[in-house]
Amino acid sequence: MSKKSANIFVCQNCGTSYPKWQGKCDSCGEWNTIVEEIRETDGFSKISSGKTGKKIDFVPLKGDLQTYNRLKTGINEIDRVSGGGLVPGSVILVGGDPGIGKSTLLLQVCAGLASMPEKYGCYYISGEEAIDQVRIRASRLGLAESPVNLASATDVRNIITTLENTDASVVIIDSIQTMYLDAVESTPGSVGQVRACAYELIKLAKRKGFVLFLVGHVTKQGEIAGPRVLEHMVDTVLYFEGERGHHFRILRAVKNRYGATDEIGVFEMQDKGLVEVENPSALFLAERQGNISGSCVFAGIEGSRPLLVEIQALVSPSGYATAKRAVVGWDSNRLSMILAVLEARCGINFSTHDVYLNIAGGLKISEPAADLAVAMAVISSLTNKPLPADMAVFGEIGLSGEIRAVSQPNLRLKEARKLGFASAITPPSFNKDKTAKNNELSCYEIGNVHRLINWFN
Ligand code: TYD
Ligand code: MG
Repeated sequence: MSKKSANIFVCQNCGTSYPKWQGKCDSCGEWNTIVEEIRETDGFSKISSGKTGKKIDFVPLKGDLQTYNRLKTGINEIDRVSGGGLVPGSVILVGGDPGIGKSTLLLQVCAGLASMPEKYGCYYISGEEAIDQVRIRASRLGLAESPVNLASATDVRNIITTLENTDASVVIIDSIQTMYLDAVESTPGSVGQVRACAYELIKLAKRKGFVLFLVGHVTKQGEIAGPRVLEHMVDTVLYFEGERGHHFRILRAVKNRYGATDEIGVFEMQDKGLVEVENPSALFLAERQGNISGSCVFAGIEGSRPLLVEIQALVSPSGYATAKRAVVGWDSNRLSMILAVLEARCGINFSTHDVYLNIAGGLKISEPAADLAVAMAVISSLTNKPLPADMAVFGEIGLSGEIRAVSQPNLRLKEARKLGFASAITPPSFNKDKTAKNNELSCYEIGNVHRLINWFN
């Protein structure tokens, strides 16, 4: 008797399944994302009835720790983001907008590893580009001579059979959305296909012990397309970010089973590919003009790294009944909150003014520690009084106007000092590093926003 295969309806955005079609996904709220898929052949192993499983062994929590023999890529920024090198058998998902430079980066990683004295077996499988296109890119990057094994393929069954008989140390799949498994009936790029292909490839990577890179495209909402499920299946999720119009790119670890998250690697896209940026603060401050109102340097931290960025504000009388607020690179709700606090605690009226806020260089920051720098940039623009060009600022603002302590103040100050800053505005009373004083960085501690106004009189 043939078994009846019940079709299910799966949201392509979040992976939730439903017994029948509906226009809107109840789970993620997206419209028209639900697609019919065949349940029987979704590529996952089935528990067949009648069979009993084997006993699993438990071990004590205490035991010898495994030390990973990490593969160093030779690209310091990648090694840092991955937690000190690539762990054999780990799976890394690299997400990012189309054209941001994922293929370029991974080709560089692949070529770098293939040229190491250890002679790692590196396999680059492109499902998006023809062999010639990849070759053209490699010669542009000056990597044409590296012993990378290149293939243009999309059938996962063929890929697995081939990789089974190789000495692969690193495999790159560019991209997972182009791959397909004939056992799954949905189209490439659908949740079912992506999940099944990734599952099979991950199983192989774990068994054979090679590092697997999966490239994933990002949807307009900024999630790796459809398969958010993929994020749970892999060991590391890296996002490659940056504005098209700007030349720098940031590789950010959002999940890492083998290292710290929130770690970033900074690159610059040049004619000959991605170049590591050793001193990102200098890059982000390069185009800053001194003595301009509305500009304030924020001493931030990204992962374990201090990063100085310029925050620009423009406050101008509004021509409309409702004043406009526009933010690039920061949280607009947070700006509204800062403006409300300044109105309530300092008596500054923004209701008749448009407020624009921009993080220079196209960087996106999410730290609340930027609050104080934002407030200072806004007041500086409103009063048209420039802040000292060699002053760095950090501190979180609370609703009662208090300035709160933030993490790693000394690291922030050290970076400011390194870049030749002379003064800093900080939250009150933290354990200041003694060297801060020795290096003549004058710190002004501010406890409440109403004291900010004194700076502009
Ligand atoms: P690519 O790696 O193809 O992006 P993705 O795989 O994320 O879609 O990057 C393509 C962009 O990078 C393209 O717009 C051109 C630019 N680029 C350079 O500026 N310099 C280079 O050396 C290379 C190879 C690409
Ligand atoms: Mg690509």
